[in-house]
Amino acid sequence: MNKLERFIREIPKAELHLHIEGSLEPELLFDLAGRNGLKLKYHSVDELKQAYSYGNLQDFLDIYYAGAVALREELDFYDLTLAYLRKARKQNIVHAEIFFDPQTHTSRGISFDTAISGILRGLEDGKRETGITGRLIMCFLRHLDESSAFETLESALPYKNHIVAVGLDSSEKGHPPSKFTRVFEKALAEGFLTVAHAGEEGPAEYIREALDLLKVSRIDHGYAAIDDPELLNRLIREKIALTMCPLSNQMLKVYPDLTLHPLKKMLDMGVKVTVNSDDPAYFGGYVNENFLSIAGALGLTREDILQLAVNSFEASFLDPEEKQRWIDAVLNYSLP
Ligand code: ADE
Ligand code: ZN
Repeated sequence: MNKLERFIREIPKAELHLHIEGSLEPELLFDLAGRNGLKLKYHSVDELKQAYSYGNLQDFLDIYYAGAVALREELDFYDLTLAYLRKARKQNIVHAEIFFDPQTHTSRGISFDTAISGILRGLEDGKRETGITGRLIMCFLRHLDESSAFETLESALPYKNHIVAVGLDSSEKGHPPSKFTRVFEKALAEGFLTVAHAGEEGPAEYIREALDLLKVSRIDHGYAAIDDPELLNRLIREKIALTMCPLSNQMLKVYPDLTLHPLKKMLDMGVKVTVNSDDPAYFGGYVNENFLSIAGALGLTREDILQLAVNSFEASFLDPEEKQRWIDAVLNYSLP
């Protein structure tokens, strides 16, 4: 292992863009299907892994929603969450802001309470075991309609103290942030922070809408801003972080060639860029593999890695004191 690789692996980091359903590893998927008496289309873990090849975001989403059917009981969501935290611990992730998609479950008859109770219990026991602090972000599926999002928001209100923000994910093209303006207005009025996937496959205009209409604190992905100097300046001026996911972009053909990824250009301009794993079980790597791939493709330096790690805490929803404590730990970090 060279020095930069060790630095990447060992420096403390926060993960800000992780779909818990996307951390369902094929082995666990098979276990859960078995104990829930479900028959899968695939006969083995290897056969399932063969299917993990995508031409675009929708190809992936079809497989991701199909995989989520294995999650049925509270214990399944608990096991899923704990498994992610154990993986994250090994990568020196010390804080994780985790998305979950309630509609992926409620639409097939699994209650909101079943899903969130398992995840929250996983976060609690996981914190005790790994030390990782967790925050939960509830995402609305943008391919569904406004009334379904309102219904989901209503189900979340009793859990207000356990959900830091609401987000927007799923099929981007044709489903602009403006479709959910009123839902996000209500969420903001209820005290939730907001984030949204924008500019992954969709245009820069969706990033503007997320900022202007949904009042987001961060943009998930945000690559489309690279061709829009005015928007780039705004992201820098307003210190809006982008949660980027290089292996996801490679696998979903957003940037099939990672040497063309805009991460380094944006970082050098002063955009608050972060590195995350999105759906690690489906894209071949957790946070450190994402760092290593993009560092290799773009020739990132130790200073770049340090900045990305600092950004991960600055852009987090931790309290100011906790943020500062981790930023100091990152800045003072030196390899033994
Ligand atoms: N849901 C899970 N991963 C996603 C991604 N990368 N984009 C949109 N929705 C998602
Ligand atoms: Zn995502």
